[in-house]
Amino acid sequence: MDFYQIKGKNPLSGMLTVHGAKNSVLPILAATLLASGQSTLYNCPELTDVSITMDILRELGCQVRREGSTLVVDASQPTSAQIPHHLMQEMRSSIVFLGALLSRMGEGQLSYPGGCELGPRPIDLHLSSLRALGAEIKEQQGMLIAKGGNLVGKDIFLSIPSVGATQNLMLAACGAVGTTTIVGAAKEPEIIELQTVLQKMGAKVWGAGSSVIQIEGGYPLHGIEHHIQGDRIVAATYLCAVAACGGDVTVQGVSTQYMGAVLDGLERAGCHLQMGQKQVRLQSGGKLQGISMVRTAPYPGFPTDAQAIFMAALSGGTGTTMFEENLFDSRYRHVDELSRMGANIQVSGRVAVVTGRELHGAQVNGTDLRGAAALVVAALSAQGESQVTGLHHIRRGYERLEQALRGLGASIALVQRT
Ligand code: EPZ
Repeated sequence: MDFYQIKGKNPLSGMLTVHGAKNSVLPILAATLLASGQSTLYNCPELTDVSITMDILRELGCQVRREGSTLVVDASQPTSAQIPHHLMQEMRSSIVFLGALLSRMGEGQLSYPGGCELGPRPIDLHLSSLRALGAEIKEQQGMLIAKGGNLVGKDIFLSIPSVGATQNLMLAACGAVGTTTIVGAAKEPEIIELQTVLQKMGAKVWGAGSSVIQIEGGYPLHGIEHHIQGDRIVAATYLCAVAACGGDVTVQGVSTQYMGAVLDGLERAGCHLQMGQKQVRLQSGGKLQGISMVRTAPYPGFPTDAQAIFMAALSGGTGTTMFEENLFDSRYRHVDELSRMGANIQVSGRVAVVTGRELHGAQVNGTDLRGAAALVVAALSAQGESQVTGLHHIRRGYERLEQALRGLGASIALVQRT
């Protein structure tokens, strides 16, 4: 099994450019299915989740090729509406294809997406919303069999601002006759970017970024060119690493306007930030101070995806921080592994209380994407050597993480075990 060999306490310095956002490129690849033509996407990171999504498009009859960080998708003649089980199981967020399939093909068959390391991942809002547009969706033997050639726009209320359900609805509504209004929509930057891509395709969509999004469906959609925005969670990861290790790093290629909650937390923990529109310079002495409370919440609140990473950075500092994880039921699985490095973290339900103290190296195992990244951040700031396993999780969301960190002066090596 591959692992990272990390020697902690190197201060980090230099500059890096963040790769394209995983949580933008995945729904946007689903959106290319709506366009009868060729779409070109720039700044697409080489991640396993992106490769899986490319394979799904190929299974549907699209031509897909990668040229460096550019993806070219030709969805002129899709030949299937069925996503094979093994691809659905590898990546539950493929559920967003259901809306795209209903919109383009009038039908879709895919297996029920399993839960994941974060606990149960219900899709009730996806299904109830699509059914409200007129889709007939049967759940049988773990499969979702959807029919929906005559979707009709409706007012849809989302009881939770679900990112995936909002995206699914936007894609399905493009193929519905009339206007769909989503009330209680997610406001994430990735939703705004999906709207931008759909508008480029010729769709009539507006309101993304607010809690009310409107889509007037029925317009023929054509291929587009688009540059994927930088990944705000990957940016947060690098910033937390330098915050925890100490140093002076400039992260560029990401809209700082979308990182407010994380940047505020880092500043309150003692970092010095200089911000531009698309870059942020962080200077840190390496010992973060506790900031009393961090509550995760839908955008623009503190992102759940940055919770583990920020917790790791604070664990090796001083003072106390209480975390409250409000999005997922089981997103503290990194805590046991951080404790093996000496972290003092007490968990009770949704709350985790971190009391900062010196961390020491250990053998630790990542069990989910952001939890594994958090262990890397902790190991970089710990005294001594660490081995971090579970790298397949990291490869889902971070492109060449060890190379980027080495470029900043970290002592990290990928050890490949046969
Ligand atoms: C997206 O997941 C992201 N994934 C997640 O990032 C992110 O953590 C999450 O949004 C929240 O920001 C992608 O964009 C691919 P949700 P998604 O639907 O869409 C509940 C990462 O690390 N819910 O907004 O699945 C759900 O259980 C990943 O990159 C229902 O109850 O998240 C959760 O508690 C991890 N019923 C809450 O809503 C539903 O039908 C938010 O989930 C749908 C969701």
